[in-house]
Amino acid sequence: MFNIFKKKKEEVKASQYLPLKVREVVKETADTVTLYFEQPKPFLDYKPGQFLTLVMDFEGKEQRRSYSLCTSPYVDPFPGISVKRVPKGKFSNFLNERVFPGKTINVLKPLGNFTTDFHSKNRKHFFLVAAGSGITPIMGILKSVLVNEPNSKVSLLYCSRNEEQIIFKKELESLVEKNTDRLEVIHNLSQPSEAWTGLKGRVTKETILEFAKKAESEPEFDKEYFACGPEGIMDNVVSILDELGVPSEKVHRESFYSAAADKAHDDAAHGITGGLLTRDVKVILEGEEYAVTVSPDKTILEAGLAQDLNMPYSCQSGLCTACRGRLLSGKVKMDEDAGLSPNEIEAGYVLCCVSHPLTDDVKVTIE
Ligand SMILES: Cc1cc2nc3c(=O)[nH]c(=O)nc-3n(C[C@H](O)[C@H](O)[C@H](O)COP(=O)(O)OP(=O)(O)OC[C@H]3O[C@@H](n4cnc5c(N)ncnc54)[C@H](O)[C@@H]3O)c2cc1C
Ligand code: FES
Repeated sequence: MFNIFKKKKEEVKASQYLPLKVREVVKETADTVTLYFEQPKPFLDYKPGQFLTLVMDFEGKEQRRSYSLCTSPYVDPFPGISVKRVPKGKFSNFLNERVFPGKTINVLKPLGNFTTDFHSKNRKHFFLVAAGSGITPIMGILKSVLVNEPNSKVSLLYCSRNEEQIIFKKELESLVEKNTDRLEVIHNLSQPSEAWTGLKGRVTKETILEFAKKAESEPEFDKEYFACGPEGIMDNVVSILDELGVPSEKVHRESFYSAAADKAHDDAAHGITGGLLTRDVKVILEGEEYAVTVSPDKTILEAGLAQDLNMPYSCQSGLCTACRGRLLSGKVKMDEDAGLSPNEIEAGYVLCCVSHPLTDDVKVTIE
C-alpha cells in the first residue's frame, strides 16, 4: 500500500518536470558557460529576469538549483542560462564540464519576481547593478527594455574581477554600439590588468551613490532599479537608494547565495540547533492538511519532503520564494528572509525551506 502511495507521489512530481534539450553550449569565460535550450512545445513561457529550477540526481538523491534565464523572450529565439562555477559546487561544475548539446535536463517552470512589465510608451531610466554571475537576469531585462521601450534608457554598473571574467563582454559591446544614446555600461574591475583605465578596486558606496544620484537627477524619466550580486554590494545599493528616498517598490534585488542559510544548514548538520524543539506543524498543500513532525535539525520543508509531501521548492536558501507559504497560526524562526519583502513578512508569509516552528500551533498554507 505504502509503495503504491509513494509511486503515485513520484509520478505527480515527475509530471511537473519539463525536459529541456540542450541546443548549444557557449563558453563565456574560464569558469562560466551559457546553456541554450531547444524551445519546448509549447514555447517556454517566462518573463525576463525569472529563473529555472534544474532537477538532477547526485549521489542517488534528487537535488534542485535555481538558474536565472539570461535571455529575453522578446529577443532570443532560444532560452538560456549562464552558470558560473562555485568551488566544489555539484551543479555548477557538472554544468560547466559535463553538459553537451543533445543532453536533456529536467527543469521546473520559470519562477521569480525579479522582473517588470514593459510598455512601448514607457519613458524610464533603468538603473542596473550586477556583480559576477549576477549579470544573468540583468541581461534578460536589459535586452527586453531596449527592444520593448524605445523611449527608455539603461545604465548598467557591472562589477567583475578582471577583463577575462566579464561575462557577455562582446554581447554588451555590440548592444552599446547599436544603442549609443540609450545604453551605458560602466565596468568596475576589482583586480584589472595594468592597462585598464576604467573604474577599479572594490566597488564602493561612493561609486554606487554617484550612479544613483545621476539617475535621480533626471526628473523626465521614471526610474526603476535592479541589483543582483553578492549580499555586500546589494546591501549598499539598497541602503543608498533608501537614503536617497527611492520608494522600495522601485528597487528589485535578487541574491544567488545566502551565507546565513548556509551557516544554519552547517550548524544543523553539526547538531547546533539553538534550543529549538521537535514540534508538529500542520501544512496545507493543494487543499489537504498534513501533520508534519519537524525535528530541531530540519526545516519545515525538509521535514515535509522527508514525509513524502510534494512541497514546492528550488534554492533551499530562503532566496527564491518557490517554497513560500502563509502562516495561519503560530510563530516560526526563519534562518534567512532575503526573498521576502517587508510587506510580505508583515502579511505573514514565510519561506518553508528556512523556517523552524517556535510554537506548537504552527499552521502554514502553501498557496
Ligand atoms: C534565484 C537564484 C538564481 C540563481 N541564478 C544563478 C545564475 O544565473 N547563475 C549561477 O551561476 N548561479 C545562479 N544561482 C546559484 C545557483 O543556484 C547555485 O547555488 C550555484 O550554482 C551553486 O550550486 P552548486 O551545486 O554548484 O554548489 P553546492 O554544491 O550547492 O555548494 C558547494 C559549496 O559552495 C557554497 N556555495 C554555493 N554557492 C555559493 C556562492 N554563490 N558563493 C559562495 N559559496 C557558495 C556552498 O555553501 C557549499 O559549501 C542562483 C541562485 C538563486 C537562488
Ligand atoms: S526554496 Fe527558495 S526560498 Fe525556499
